[in-house]
Amino acid sequence: MKVRSTPGPLLAPLPAVMVSCGSMEESNILTIAWTGIINSNPPMTYISVQPKRCSHDIIEQSGEFVINLVPADLAKAMDFCGVRSGRDVDKFEAQGLTREAADTVLAPLIAESPVNIECRVKDIIRMPSHDMFMAEITAVHIDEKYVDEKGAYDFGSMDLVAFSHGKYYRLSAEELGFFGFSVMKPKTAKRRAAQKRQQKERKK
Ligand SMILES: Cc1cc2nc3c(=O)[nH]c(=O)nc-3n(C[C@H](O)[C@H](O)[C@H](O)COP(=O)(O)O)c2cc1C
Repeated sequence: MKVRSTPGPLLAPLPAVMVSCGSMEESNILTIAWTGIINSNPPMTYISVQPKRCSHDIIEQSGEFVINLVPADLAKAMDFCGVRSGRDVDKFEAQGLTREAADTVLAPLIAESPVNIECRVKDIIRMPSHDMFMAEITAVHIDEKYVDEKGAYDFGSMDLVAFSHGKYYRLSAEELGFFGFSVMKPKTAKRRAAQKRQQKERKK
């Protein structure tokens, strides 16, 4: 039997990301959970931001922002950026975070984050509580630690944080499968098992 819940935004898990905005000289960070991918080609994402947030006007005016993924060791900084406003505090300074110049936008990257996604706003959809900034992804930076010699990305080792109904969890759990694993051929299963063994050996 299931309990009926009042309709609410109970989708889980969600990414909890730090969004940087502004410029290298005058920047801000806010935490965002209402985000996702909305198109593949061109790659597009969105963030939904309440108009009262200090970052809202910065993003609306500049038309740019950077999504910075959050590993467990940045969880506290991420939480802080979601409970304090840039009107009262410089969050880069307060959390010891480093601004790094981006390639295609003026907003800074957060150097300590393993993945920075540069975004340019294409459209704003006004909703009752939030404004949804729909944006094209114009550049992505990935810490070389997580890129192997063949150029494959290892997001599984990043120890990223998920947000689930008010709580933070780390995504460092065992891999359950991969895209399409439910229908993979025995040959593919064998090859992947061999690759995994090699990776394990290399990490030793
Ligand atoms: C885990 C978490 C997720 C959040 N997600 C959102 C969100 O999706 N949209 C939003 O407008 N605010 C969200 N917030 C709240 C803002 O990050 C928070 O109000 C922040 O202090 C705004 O900063 P600013 O005034 O400097 O822009 C979230 C906060 C936390 C802690």
